[in-house]
Amino acid sequence: MNKFRFGIIGCGVIGPWHADAIRAIPEAELVACADVVEEKARTMGEKYGIDWHTDINELLQREDIDIVNICVPSGLRKDIAVPAARAGKHIIAEKPLEITLEKCDEIIKAARDNGVKLGVIFQARFSDGVQTLINALNKGKFGKLVYGEASVKWYRTQEYYDSAGWRGTWALDGGGALMNQSIHVVDLLQWIMGDVESLFAYTGLLAHERIETEDTAIASIKFKSGALGSIVGMTSAYPGYAKKIEIYGTKGSAILENDAIVAWNFAEEDEEDKLIKEGQTKKKTEAVGASSATAGLAIEGHRRQIFDFIEAIKKDAEPLVNGEEGRKSVEIILGIYQSAKERKEVRFPIK
Ligand SMILES: NC(=O)c1ccc[n+]([C@@H]2O[C@H](COP(=O)([O-])OP(=O)(O)OC[C@H]3O[C@@H](n4cnc5c(N)ncnc54)[C@H](O)[C@@H]3O)[C@@H](O)[C@H]2O)c1
Repeated sequence: MNKFRFGIIGCGVIGPWHADAIRAIPEAELVACADVVEEKARTMGEKYGIDWHTDINELLQREDIDIVNICVPSGLRKDIAVPAARAGKHIIAEKPLEITLEKCDEIIKAARDNGVKLGVIFQARFSDGVQTLINALNKGKFGKLVYGEASVKWYRTQEYYDSAGWRGTWALDGGGALMNQSIHVVDLLQWIMGDVESLFAYTGLLAHERIETEDTAIASIKFKSGALGSIVGMTSAYPGYAKKIEIYGTKGSAILENDAIVAWNFAEEDEEDKLIKEGQTKKKTEAVGASSATAGLAIEGHRRQIFDFIEAIKKDAEPLVNGEEGRKSVEIILGIYQSAKERKEVRFPIK
């Protein structure tokens, strides 16, 4: 079997999650990793028994690497993704794709111009609960969508923000509770409800020091379909609660907590719906993901998404979350920041 050969750039918190996910796929092989901090690169290289580099270009020039996973701070993604595309490597970018739309567009263009695939990690899309919801949506079971709510009421300690200089900065994190933590549910909300027409938002920095960005945010949304929505993003909600997606339509509604279905009610229910309802009670809320950088993550989501990416290369198709898809949540969050700053409604596409 010809294996797809991977290199990981950025060996911090999330880099090893990619390594474990890659190693859980029989068709994938982890070849090398790179980090500008020698100790990080060496530690990860030794842990996985792979080559390690401190010069990112050395990794990009290797002919035995097909795909690079870019796990560096969010605002540095473009600086690595564009050279990676030029070196002919397919790219799996962590979320957010980048922190400005200009930089997102540069990455998307570089990937298209160089004929490489670009995927953006939104592992929640691959969870069983979200997939079940999308199937029901595609069958029209919700009727007309009227309201969608996405909320992340998490807690991050001051130590979390102090643990790496880039966290909570505009230049490298690109935002706070929304751009870093809540972006997963922002992506899900727009995937389910469709494009945003306009929104109005407030943001606040209420529970932390020494950061520039918001730790608390709320937005009211009007979707192009006419449906309404809201987004709540917090890293200030001690001790932290389950992230939630709530979808309401004229013929049904569903609530997901930590991507598990906890409410499932439809005007027309079949055997499958009954099974889903029976399962829901066993999966009631645990506040997973609520209070640390990696709590709530499981490599299964990454594994499924990396598998989807490999399939896209094999079939010369688009991965589920390509660059254009990955850009959408960034635009919504930037729209929220713009509205909060200007204290007025923002219409999409944003300027
Ligand atoms: N999908 C998820 O659920 C999830 C979870 C956590 C983090 N992330 C994303 O992953 C990215 C990294 O987050 P993290 O928590 O692992 O951060 P981190 O600070 O723990 O790790 C980042 C690593 O990148 C290295 N680095 C910095 N600049 C570099 C460069 N130019 N070239 C190579 N390496 C460089 C740093 O030395 C560090 O080791 C962020 O964009 C974050 O949003 C995603």
